Amino acid sequence: MLVEKEDNLAIVWINRPDQLNALNIDTIDELGKAMREIDEDKNIRCVILTGSGEKAFVAGADIKEFYQFDVEKGKILSRNGHEKLFNLIEQMGTPVIAAINGFALGGGLELAMSCHIRVASHKAKMGLPEVSLGVIPGYGGTQRLAQLAGKGRAMEIILTAQMITSDEAVEYGLVNHTTTQSELLEKCKEIANKISRNSPAAISSAIAAMNAGFSSGKDGFEKEIEEFGKSFGTKDFKEGTTAFVEKRKPNFTGE
Ligand code: COA
Repeated sequence: MLVEKEDNLAIVWINRPDQLNALNIDTIDELGKAMREIDEDKNIRCVILTGSGEKAFVAGADIKEFYQFDVEKGKILSRNGHEKLFNLIEQMGTPVIAAINGFALGGGLELAMSCHIRVASHKAKMGLPEVSLGVIPGYGGTQRLAQLAGKGRAMEIILTAQMITSDEAVEYGLVNHTTTQSELLEKCKEIANKISRNSPAAISSAIAAMNAGFSSGKDGFEKEIEEFGKSFGTKDFKEGTTAFVEKRKPNFTGE
């Protein structure tokens, strides 16, 4: 993992370029820990997650690590991944933007889908090829791809195990924007800057309310009512509304 902090922004690079940034158990633990620390850092208002090297965002879970696992180990691998990294990122109060700079396959696309926003370069190739290996997506792919691209598209992508281009991913709603490789980080920073001007307290409430609608057993509308009400007790709400009345820019602290 490489972490760089610039003002209110953290940029995290998954750094195993010779293995196309494949996610092994140690990388998942390390990335989970780094993300937790960043989420607790009140100076950081947005995170960009990307892959080192020119070739890959993340080319999947590490096949060489798990290919001899049995049923029990397979289940533990999936559950730990969900808990330690994928759900953790999705539930972070600090927004995470995936900058997809190359192959995002299997666990790599699942990682990008657990982020709040995705931007892909024209070089990106995305897919969930697990069924070609005799396994299925195990880090949330069967659920999050259908949420983002619709069930029919998700079925086709997962069952054919084929890769899609960045243009197709935009058309499917899987990524928000596509750029040249050299403009990818700039585009992500532009989005991050717009996010950073807003109330961190309100942003984390908005994420929680939006996520609730996609979590089984939770009522998204109820969560929205709860988080909306909660906003009225924050310093950010006082500052944002007072700044509006006083015709000045707000200075949010996230409290
Ligand atoms: N797990 C473990 N190692 C991986 C990997 C993965 N998911 N993806 C790539 N690598 C490793 C390769 O084994 C190779 O390592 P080596 O040099 O020690 O042999 C290195 O990364 C470079 O990959 P290589 O296959 O030589 O690059 P390529 O340009 O020919 O092909 C891909 C690129 C992405 C098409 C190909 O690596 C691939 O199909 N990877 C697996 C994708 C996948 O099925 N992901 C889902 C896993 S559940």
